[in-house]
Amino acid sequence: MTTPLNDPAWWQRGVIYQIYPRSFADESGDGIGDLEGIVRHLDHLAWLGVDALWTSPIFTSPMADFGYDVSNYTDIDPVFGTLETFDALIAAAHKRDIRVLLDWVPNHTSDRHPWFMASRGSRDNPYRDWYLWRDRPNNWRQAFRDAPAWTLDPRTGQYYLHHFLPQQPDLNWNNPAVRTAMHDVLRFWLDRGVDGFRADVVHLIGKDPALPDDPDDPVGSRVAWHYHPLTHEWLREIRAVLDSYPGDRMMVGEVNLSDNAQVASHAGPEQLHLAFDFTLTYAPWDARAFRESIAAVEDATSAAGSWPALVLSNHDVPRHRTRYGGDERRAMVAALILLTLRGTPFLYAGEELGLEDAKIPADRHVDPGGRDPQRAPIPWTSDPDHGWAGKPWLPWPPEPDTRNAVSQRRDTASIAALYRRLLRARHDDATLHGGSLELLDAPAGVLAYDRVGPAGRRRVLANFEDSPVEVVSEGSWRVSLATSRQREGEAFDGMLGGTAAVVLTPAD
Ligand code: NOJ
Repeated sequence: MTTPLNDPAWWQRGVIYQIYPRSFADESGDGIGDLEGIVRHLDHLAWLGVDALWTSPIFTSPMADFGYDVSNYTDIDPVFGTLETFDALIAAAHKRDIRVLLDWVPNHTSDRHPWFMASRGSRDNPYRDWYLWRDRPNNWRQAFRDAPAWTLDPRTGQYYLHHFLPQQPDLNWNNPAVRTAMHDVLRFWLDRGVDGFRADVVHLIGKDPALPDDPDDPVGSRVAWHYHPLTHEWLREIRAVLDSYPGDRMMVGEVNLSDNAQVASHAGPEQLHLAFDFTLTYAPWDARAFRESIAAVEDATSAAGSWPALVLSNHDVPRHRTRYGGDERRAMVAALILLTLRGTPFLYAGEELGLEDAKIPADRHVDPGGRDPQRAPIPWTSDPDHGWAGKPWLPWPPEPDTRNAVSQRRDTASIAALYRRLLRARHDDATLHGGSLELLDAPAGVLAYDRVGPAGRRRVLANFEDSPVEVVSEGSWRVSLATSRQREGEAFDGMLGGTAAVVLTPAD
């Protein structure tokens, strides 16, 4: 069992909201979301009650991977705005007590970044060693397509490494000049007032200098994603940069490893503040699978002394409502679970509206990784343009006429209203945001756990099945939150409706 937090930091207590900027809100009229669009809708985030927003990359980019291929780390891509609009975004967010996190992409740059253009110029260019060049490639494979992770550059007759697209060459973090340059990028934005960063595939920055072949096991090697202990060393240096600034700046890392203990070992007082654990994004709609995922994260983070960072959806995986078969009640139950677990919840813009993935016709596919459906634009209003100044770059998700922010906010029984109640409760209740977690035995199809902390005990019961079920709980309890709003405030009679969840508080 874990111990309750005494004095949680904002990034432990809070809820963080991910914005995929191309798809959030368009003010300029080109059909691509922009920073002014984010500013315009900050009141939606304030209404919801989030503590911070994280935007996927907004730096200058040729957009081969929609911003995860950076050609200038210290400027804003014109499609999103300018440094001035960015300053205005920070000011407007801070005015509403919303912190701002940027997406920092440390493992690779764009092939159009001046560092790489110099590096590929000749074998003796001073930037040559900023990237990983070899006469003979090892057997590593790239993400997105089944092809080698190496491309031959005819100009110098050597291969360069890229874990992702050929347009995303990996930086060589074993070179101290690379580390200094990337720390300077952090300083540039910290000086500008950002509250922290999400670090893209940060587990990949530590690499064995020998770049040994993967074992002859394609599945295993793919899953291992090249963990190397040098990453911990580079993370300690990064942490020192963050800690040299006042005001609780933080970094959450994308540590895309399948072993929970390995993920958790990247976070703690000297490394990342948080490391995403993606276990829940793999869990099917099944109470036992959720229980096992939660137990795995609890065990790993308590052993490592780190704090969980939990996520159901993001721009890389199908939205959870879609994964669970499209039933909105399941999305509501999942929301109640995510927001009552121990750990910092990350929301993906649109999940509070119960959005499903869009159906993208073949002639409109644009992402090399096949992730367009979960990146569909956010419908803001019921008007034909749904609040977008231009025709969006991707098709709308299903039912935008009714499933949009204005309609959802108006309806007190909506999923958006449920998210808002959950966020408020989590914010106000020291047990919900800081308490320990105890998994309980429960009837088949039911997930049950207690949160225990300074404000007493809370009990969470979630029925994954479609038929009602009786759950016997000793003592008397009151329903303080429920996926069906009309139950809130009732004495708990032991009955849980089909595909429904409640949070209980002791009645006296
Ligand atoms: C992880 C990001 O979340 C994903 O969208 C991107 O394609 C890869 N890293 C490469 O940067």
